[in-house]
Amino acid sequence: MAEVELDSVSKIYSKNVKAVDNASLTAEDGEFLVLVGPSGCGKTTTLRMIAGLEEITSGSLRIGGKLANDLEPKDRDVAMVFQNYALYPHMKVFDNMAFGLRARKTPEPEVRARVSEVAGKLGLEELLDRKPGALSGGQRQRVAFGRAIARRPAVFLLDEPLSNLDARLRVIMRRELAMLHRELGTTTIYVTHDQVEAMTLGDRVCVMNDGMIRQVGTPKEIYDHPVDRFVGEFLGSPAMNFLEGEKKNEDGDASFAIGDFVLSLTQQFKNVPSGNVILGARPENISLATSEDRDFRNDLIEGTLEVLEDVGEARLLHVQVADSLIVAKVTERPEVEVGYKVSLTVDSERCHLFDPETGKNLSV
Ligand SMILES: Nc1ncnc2c1ncn2[C@@H]1O[C@H](COP(=O)(O)OP(=O)(O)OP(=O)(O)O)[C@@H](O)[C@H]1O
Ligand SMILES: [Mg+2]
Repeated sequence: MAEVELDSVSKIYSKNVKAVDNASLTAEDGEFLVLVGPSGCGKTTTLRMIAGLEEITSGSLRIGGKLANDLEPKDRDVAMVFQNYALYPHMKVFDNMAFGLRARKTPEPEVRARVSEVAGKLGLEELLDRKPGALSGGQRQRVAFGRAIARRPAVFLLDEPLSNLDARLRVIMRRELAMLHRELGTTTIYVTHDQVEAMTLGDRVCVMNDGMIRQVGTPKEIYDHPVDRFVGEFLGSPAMNFLEGEKKNEDGDASFAIGDFVLSLTQQFKNVPSGNVILGARPENISLATSEDRDFRNDLIEGTLEVLEDVGEARLLHVQVADSLIVAKVTERPEVEVGYKVSLTVDSERCHLFDPETGKNLSV
């Protein structure tokens, strides 16, 4: 097993394309690290540089403590699983899985032993004589994993391995991947643009945008304490709400004013200077005001219910407040009607204040 360390790594494809910009990141030995970010942010490029399929323009890469910038891919002891699986169509499943071992001149009896062990783990025993063309998407995906696992590399590099599967199979494979990682304990760097995969699989998550690393942390750290508006918005569904308003500090009390409404803020915000800010509130931290709230609180936000969506385990209320459309996620089945006014409470302890210019989180 091995740790993978990127130190100020950049990849410049041509004058105008800086695909990865000064990225510093360490995947600890045995860790499951997820790279997540929107399309084109540099995830695949980062993985390909680690695999040795793409030259590193500047910075250094260490695998297992050893400088790896100029190592041949085959000497890096990493195995990559590609989004399109890249199986050899003319080879049987067995030979696909044996390919990496044979390429490394592993004695044939050991090849057989390892392939059948991995086939057992992944439930592929019955399929070893088939060719990839005769497999379902999920089975092909398993073969691609099997080929990587059979080699027993020090590091797995997985590029969106579940993106071609249907939603149900994705959930199953996600669970299997988590179990497999627990069993093998191999350092894994996993690329996805799916924030649910990132949150559920990662020991830690690295959020990228525009070739740059925005934040690295445990799923909980990133979700609860996003460093900027981009990270706050990227993780969570429905996305975090953003409200433009004014931060006020009066007599030691902090508040946030939007239109005619004033929201009291907890003490954690008292050091944020007054002025224009953007308040970020996740849908699950906004509730419908109870009749008690309406009697006793003076910091309710009022708006018109535009759309009510029932998603089974929760209701999503889309509420027009001043110029903004706010989404609240509630677990009860409220007696409210579309087109009418509703009052909302915001759990200000779990809110964030962002700088309107830089997007930086002012409250962490
Ligand atoms: N071979 C290449 N030559 C020039 N530019 C490239 C090349 N490969 C990628 N790029 C550019 O580098 C940037 C990062 O691409 P990359 O494939 O790493 O993104 P990604 O995060 O994996 O995106 P996706 O989620 O769509 O797979 C993009 O702007 C892309 O157009
Ligand atoms: Mg990609």
